[in-house]
Amino acid sequence: MLRRGVTAAFAALALAPSAALAQETVKVGLILPMTGQQASTGKQIDAAVKLYQAQNGATVAGKKVEVILKDDTSVPDVTKRLAQELVVNDKVAFLAGFGITPSALATAPIATQAKVPEIVMAAGTSSITEASPYIARTSFTLAQSSVPMAQWAAKNGIKKVVTLVSDYGPGIDAEKSFSETFKADGGTIVENLRVPMRSPDFSPVLQKVADIKPDALFVFVPSGTGAQFVKQFIERGLDKSGVKLIATGDVTDDDQLNGMGDAMVGVINAHNYSANHDSAMNKAFVAAFEKANNGMRPNFMAVGGYDGMHLIYAALKKTNGVTDGDKLMAAIKGMAWESPRGPISIDPETRDIVQNIYIRKVQKVGGELYNVEFETIANVKDPVKAAKKK
Ligand code: PHB
Repeated sequence: MLRRGVTAAFAALALAPSAALAQETVKVGLILPMTGQQASTGKQIDAAVKLYQAQNGATVAGKKVEVILKDDTSVPDVTKRLAQELVVNDKVAFLAGFGITPSALATAPIATQAKVPEIVMAAGTSSITEASPYIARTSFTLAQSSVPMAQWAAKNGIKKVVTLVSDYGPGIDAEKSFSETFKADGGTIVENLRVPMRSPDFSPVLQKVADIKPDALFVFVPSGTGAQFVKQFIERGLDKSGVKLIATGDVTDDDQLNGMGDAMVGVINAHNYSANHDSAMNKAFVAAFEKANNGMRPNFMAVGGYDGMHLIYAALKKTNGVTDGDKLMAAIKGMAWESPRGPISIDPETRDIVQNIYIRKVQKVGGELYNVEFETIANVKDPVKAAKKK
């Protein structure tokens, strides 16, 4: 009897510390493309998440927030397997990251089944937030930037446009929302061109653009691919052909813009974030990010990661550290705060981000190329979901 009692007491003692520790740690499974074509997105978001924790501490509502980083190489089957392992083995309270749309979508059924919030920090296809009630987004949708870009073009003397997009979710959203808006505003879409998402060759489509000679070419390619597109655009002499380049800010990506060359000066584009955004908060963010990362300039992906981390912290604060998925989602809905990009919130109905969209012009500032904002469209909800509601 005595022996059994001692054994039980020993067992309880042996279990106690680890059980207590497990309770006090909230794990965040951060799945990003750290290698492969989308590696710049992974690098930017990882750096932003680390910066957020360095600035805000690793403890929230009395719990330690532990980030577990996994590289999905931007292969959706890998994303799904990693998400499953993070939920089953690591018991994460949040899944976060997702560099491309197919990765975010592949994880949606796991989020639903496990009732684990999925915080989309990068991917931009409108339909993602509809794939699970446990998804919330801190990045953007392509329609958010493509609709204002089309409105600006129609208002500024551009009559004939060719569109060129990556042939997958966000590209198709960009093409559709730009074309529909531009036509409704009286413009003509001469042709909709698409290139493969992986290892695109722009020469055949750029030849077509040179032949058609529209007033403007509207482009979306995902972050990390812009420089390659711009190089071929310039090599074919299109920058001097009278065809105006207009784009979503994914093309004039802060991660690559400075290396694209002076031919980019004057390019008009629309997006949610510029490293040049004029606010005290952004100046402090850019300075801290550059200091912590050997001078690397933060791009819109970094801001999606930084704000995603804020959303996780703020949700935990609101639930007082409770990690029940439904309670966390209730906390997330309607959350509003100031981001380095400006004021943002999570739409309580769609769990998608509401944010300002800025029209920008590429300019030299202090010898470097930046997207300089000159017009603000305030509090933009995803236009695709807004249109469905009507
Ligand atoms: C996406 O796959 O949804 C995606 C990736 C990079 C971007 C925009 C959208 O810049």
